[in-house]
Amino acid sequence: MHTIAVVPGSFDPVTLGHIDVIERAASIFDEVHVVVVHNPDKSALLPIAQRVSLIQRAIADGNVEGEILVTSWSMGLLVDYCVEVGAKVLVKGIRSQVDVAYETPMAIVNRNLAGVETIFLLPDPAHAHVSSSLVRQVAGLGGDVAPYVPVAVAEFLASPN
Ligand code: PNS
Repeated sequence: MHTIAVVPGSFDPVTLGHIDVIERAASIFDEVHVVVVHNPDKSALLPIAQRVSLIQRAIADGNVEGEILVTSWSMGLLVDYCVEVGAKVLVKGIRSQVDVAYETPMAIVNRNLAGVETIFLLPDPAHAHVSSSLVRQVAGLGGDVAPYVPVAVAEFLASPN
C-alpha cells in the first residue's frame, strides 16, 4: 500500500522545527504533502505562495529525501484535502504539553469529520523552543533568526525584495 501523510500548518515562516518534522514524516511514509493553510487566528507575515516557495527551497537546500509535495489549501476543511488526495494521516510535531493541548481537539475533530488520524512526532529537542510566532517577532524587531530557520528563510527575511 502506498501511504500518503499530510503535514499541515501555517508555516509563517517555516522553521527548522518544521523541517525536522517533515524529514521524519518522509522517512516513515511513502509520500508526504506539506500543506500550507491560512489560520484565521493568527496575523500573517508572509503571503501563502511565499510560504510554499520557502518550504520548497528549504527542502531542496536541506536535501530532505522522499517524495514530498508542497502545496496550499484554501478550499475548506483540511480533511477535505486529505480525502481528495487519499491521505489517511496527518502528522504534527509536538514540542511540549502546550502543543498537546492545542493539537488534541483538532486531531479528534479531524478524525470525527473524515476518519483522518493524527500522528504526533517528537522533533529534535534542539528545536523545542522554536516557533514561527517567535521568529516573526524577532525578525520584526530586527533580530537575527538564522539559528531558527532554514537558510532560504533567513535570507528572505533579511532582504525580502
Ligand atoms: O501551524 P498552525 O497555525 O498551528 O496550523 C493550524 C492548522 C492550519 C493546521 C489548522 O488551523 C487547520 O487545520 N486549519 C484548517 C481548517 C480546518 O480544517 N479546521 C477544522 C479542523 S481543526
